Amino acid sequence: MGLTRDFFIALSKNQVLNSGAKKWGLKLGASKMVAGTDIDSMMKSVKELNAEGISATIDNLGEFVYSREEALAAKNNILDTLEAIQQHGVSAHMSVKLTQVGLDVDFGFCLENMQEIVAMAANYAIFINIDMEDYSHLQQTLDILEALLKEYDNVGTVIQAYLYRSEKDMEALRDVRLRLVKGAYKEIPDVSLQSASDIDSNYLKLIKNRLQLPVFTSIATHDHVIINEVKRFVKENDIPLNRFEFQMLYGFRSEMQKELAREGFNFTTYVPFGEDWYGYYMRRLAERPQNLNLALKSLVSK
Ligand code: FDA
Repeated sequence: MGLTRDFFIALSKNQVLNSGAKKWGLKLGASKMVAGTDIDSMMKSVKELNAEGISATIDNLGEFVYSREEALAAKNNILDTLEAIQQHGVSAHMSVKLTQVGLDVDFGFCLENMQEIVAMAANYAIFINIDMEDYSHLQQTLDILEALLKEYDNVGTVIQAYLYRSEKDMEALRDVRLRLVKGAYKEIPDVSLQSASDIDSNYLKLIKNRLQLPVFTSIATHDHVIINEVKRFVKENDIPLNRFEFQMLYGFRSEMQKELAREGFNFTTYVPFGEDWYGYYMRRLAERPQNLNLALKSLVSK
């Protein structure tokens, strides 16, 4: 199990495979978890979700951006996606990773790119969520968010329940729209909880604290135990349904996604798309080796 996870994490970071995959189109079963390589196919998926009463948060996939040119190209792709959301009139917002728009190049350059993105989104009344990456980028991510919040209110970020500091970070962001997750990266014991049960307890604690505040929260998990406990908690405490939503990734537990929407919960699906699908897909296989069955089935059925 551990070996499989490390194996796929290593594959996700392989830059030769990452750049090769851009030329392959969606392969290895990736089309089950990535909504196409271009805006048209992604929009088709978003409209199908909307028809089920589900909104979307769109991620224009991108990895390993270490040059200004690549960061500017990624920013332009994001601006094109915002235009498309506006033109198609779909129910959707965007998720953006700061490393994709230049955080590893230069802090000020990344902030400028984000200002342009958030300004256009504000114009169209579209929310921008800044995804949280690994711990080495966390403080800079919060600093960029703080700078953006001075000018805009259509931006928020993610709190990872596995980090010791998250309770304090969440408190400092008590007026800001947040997504709460367990946390996806491999972090050292100095900064993060390591056992699944400790992470789950902290996750529930953060969710319950947060749901008592009159501010919007996204609870992003595929874990039915957590979801059932949240349902019980909101009922018991009369928490209004418009104060929160559930989120899951595209292609994961699709029936449960529709069922939660049918039950009357706000629901948003995280919809990744783009040529840079390879690293995202390998991380999903690392998280849940059962997904490998999907990949293998799609290989042998070709
Ligand atoms: P976890 O993987 O712990 O699963 C718990 C249990 O749920 C499993 O044991 C199984 O019983 C059940 N289960 C889970 N998946 C299932 C499936 N597909 N089918 C059937 N049963 C299943 N992370 C991060 O660090 N920064 C970020 O910005 C984000 N953003 C983000 C957005 C969205 C919309 C989601 C859903 C997740 C993220 N994450 C993230 C990832 C997150 O931190 C976490 O790594 C994954 O969601 C995996 O944890 P879960 O809470 O889903 O359950």
